[in-house]
Amino acid sequence: MNQDQLKRSAAEAALAYLLPRLERDTIVGIGTGSTANHFIDLLASVRHLFDGAVASSNASAQRLRRLGVPVFDLNAVPDVAVYVDGADEVNAARQLIKGGGGALTREKIVAASAREFVCIVDSSKFVTTLGAFPLPVEVIPMARGLVGRALRDLGGQPALRDGVTTDNGNLIIDVHGLRITDPRALEAQLNNIVGTVCNGIFAANAADVVFAAGPEGVKRW
Ligand code: 5RP
Repeated sequence: MNQDQLKRSAAEAALAYLLPRLERDTIVGIGTGSTANHFIDLLASVRHLFDGAVASSNASAQRLRRLGVPVFDLNAVPDVAVYVDGADEVNAARQLIKGGGGALTREKIVAASAREFVCIVDSSKFVTTLGAFPLPVEVIPMARGLVGRALRDLGGQPALRDGVTTDNGNLIIDVHGLRITDPRALEAQLNNIVGTVCNGIFAANAADVVFAAGPEGVKRW
């Protein structure tokens, strides 16, 4: 199986896990990226079993609507039962790096709003220590230089993601060279940099369940 087929397998495992919990009034939170896209396509096939979705990006909202799944504003729904999304890295504690697709802020908001966070990945995303994947940080445009200097002081090498504006109208700085041994502490520290909107460490609110598809099958932890 190639990497895309493995992503599809992880999405299938998540749908099988969720199917028994879907009810007429269930709202599903939906992530962003190629693995989340597989999940959207699968979820659309059981559209009659739940109420609708909240999306973490304009791209996912468009895909959901195109497939006939109603998309609600997060502020308009009383409850998000579950959030399903991919990741750029995941460790044994289900802590993640996310934001490779630039949607980290809305992803973190929808994940925090959901009662359960299900992460779906192909097994190449599993790491012992987070940080080989450059850490995305969303910044207010006028604070680009200020935040960049603060990230350098923390030992990283910041690189502005060329030509990218987020759905929130901000910029993304990718931070290379971090070895993240204490994800919760670094997540909190980065949150304190003035001008930072959000960082791609998902540790304070880690995934509750991970489905990782590899050549030998889907592992769950
Ligand atoms: C987008 C994300 C994605 O979940 C992450 O980049 C993984 O993407 P893919 O499923 O395409 O490998 O965080 O902001």
